Amino acid sequence: MRTAILASGRGSNLQALIDAHQSGALPIEIVAVGSDQLRAGALKRAEESGIPTRVFQTNHYPNRQGQEEDILSWLKENQVELLLLAGYMKVLGPQFMRQVHIPILNIHPSLLPAFPGLHAQRQALEYGVKVSGCTVHFVDEGLDSGPIILQEAVPVLPEDTVESISHRILAVEHRLYTEAVRLLALGKVERTGRQVKILQ
Ligand code: GRF
Repeated sequence: MRTAILASGRGSNLQALIDAHQSGALPIEIVAVGSDQLRAGALKRAEESGIPTRVFQTNHYPNRQGQEEDILSWLKENQVELLLLAGYMKVLGPQFMRQVHIPILNIHPSLLPAFPGLHAQRQALEYGVKVSGCTVHFVDEGLDSGPIILQEAVPVLPEDTVESISHRILAVEHRLYTEAVRLLALGKVERTGRQVKILQ
């Protein structure tokens, strides 16, 4: 599966996907990495692995539509069959979602539908939950609202800080995202409306 990844930040999930691919555990081809942030660590990581990168810097566009049209052309140019969001901090708009006809996946650091949006780990701590975790889901036009593919719980400990819980969740994210992408690439993810079945 020709795969593109969009990331805004340090890119540790991107790195986990690259590593899994390089070790032969992920039957996809990462053909392109894009970012809305010129200085995203994710771009550097991609370059170090020889993956072509593209920047769609938000302030270079008059509006979101222009930026998203460029992303759509980039996906077409690269004949992308699967788009992965890995810490991509912008919501893809309804027009983009209507025009893109490939699966898009995202990883979110909470057990959705709890704590969507920004600072999910802080939201979980402040709410006082005893368990949080992470979710890999299909992207739809909402905010972290698409059908859920995989989830895994992580305990929240009394002494946790945002940093410590984020760190514990992140280790699981790397494994869970890779596993979800592997299952999808092997044709083992069957989606019917909101229901996602993992085929054996
Ligand atoms: C992760 O916590 C991911 O779940 C969220 O953004 C963060 C990205 O981290 N969507 P990284 O850039 O992959 O290290």
